[in-house]
Amino acid sequence: MSISGLDTATTDRLRLRTALIERIGGYMTSHALAVVADLGFADLIKDEVRDSGELAAELGTHEPSLRRVLRLLAATGITTEPEPGRFGLTPVGALLRSDSPDSLRAFTRVFCSPMWLTAWQGLGSAVATGDLAFDRAKGSDFYTALAADPEFSALFHDAMSEESRVAAARVAAAYDFSGVSRVVDLGGGDGTLIAALLTAHPHLRGTVFDSPNGIADAAGVLEKAGVADRAEARPGDFFQDIPQDGDLYIIKSVFQDWNDEDALALLRSCRDRLPASATLLVVGTVLPETAHPDQAVAYFTDVNMMVMAGGRERTESEFREMLASTGFTVESVRIGAAGPLSMIRATLTGTR
Ligand SMILES: C[S@@+](CC[C@H](N)C(=O)[O-])C[C@H]1O[C@@H](n2cnc3c(N)ncnc32)[C@H](O)[C@@H]1O
Repeated sequence: MSISGLDTATTDRLRLRTALIERIGGYMTSHALAVVADLGFADLIKDEVRDSGELAAELGTHEPSLRRVLRLLAATGITTEPEPGRFGLTPVGALLRSDSPDSLRAFTRVFCSPMWLTAWQGLGSAVATGDLAFDRAKGSDFYTALAADPEFSALFHDAMSEESRVAAARVAAAYDFSGVSRVVDLGGGDGTLIAALLTAHPHLRGTVFDSPNGIADAAGVLEKAGVADRAEARPGDFFQDIPQDGDLYIIKSVFQDWNDEDALALLRSCRDRLPASATLLVVGTVLPETAHPDQAVAYFTDVNMMVMAGGRERTESEFREMLASTGFTVESVRIGAAGPLSMIRATLTGTR
């Protein structure tokens, strides 16, 4: 359909311009999302439709400014404005509620935080020189900065567990745990994955292995899930020391943090320290060999890793090469099995 009074060719040209301008405005939407996520707007409004004056009063904000931000979010599919000045949430916006099982509130607050946005301002320099934008902006690497900021660190681990909760249910269902006795989650963060696996498979015992800062909340998560009697949280550095008593070692959403040299060092650490009969299960994004428009999130995380940690997402052939060069045999690659994440199962002998 043409825009009123314009011929089809002109309408098409204007649509193309609008499509690009909407993408340019992505960072404006990110800022607006950060504001409402930080304020707890979705927790306040829940499934109601409310007047912006009331909302501003309860949130302690400047009403005319809040209203304009909510209108921008209505135009980008996060809020609704069924009557002038009255706002609700779309199903996508409802994911900003802390009580949603699929909540992305902490994820939004982290990925739209000043810590992230400041680092991303260095993208141009990273592209020009290959330097690490986060380290340049902050004067330290990401995990050192995280350890120095306990409040942001807790938020970061909340964001990781929001992502993990959904993937954990898929891993629990998609992998055959029948022959497994103890599963060790390397870089397991707050224990969300181990808690889900032990809940789904009552015969399993589990270990969450992470830095002291990384496992700070794990005991509480395991306790809350009712699996603390079968699970432990063990601090350590997976480059130096890996628990020896597991038979399945999961490493989820970790390799992307590291450049090839460090990723290979981590695999060599696994090769040298895992029991000879153990299985390694890599859970994470596997990029297609060529870029795909329906995989935007995978490419967001790829470039995000470049900016924040000097890491990268990898294709199946890149994973296969890294695993083979460190002595692992790839037994299976299941793309999207932990939707949207994939599962790569590898062993040290090729017979397990
Ligand atoms: C991107 S997070 C993924 C967390 C979790 N596996 C998940 O999927 O939600 C990477 C994890 O690796 C941990 N980590 C980083 N360096 C580590 C090291 N040297 N030893 C152990 N864990 C480490 C971090 O603390 C963090 O919890």
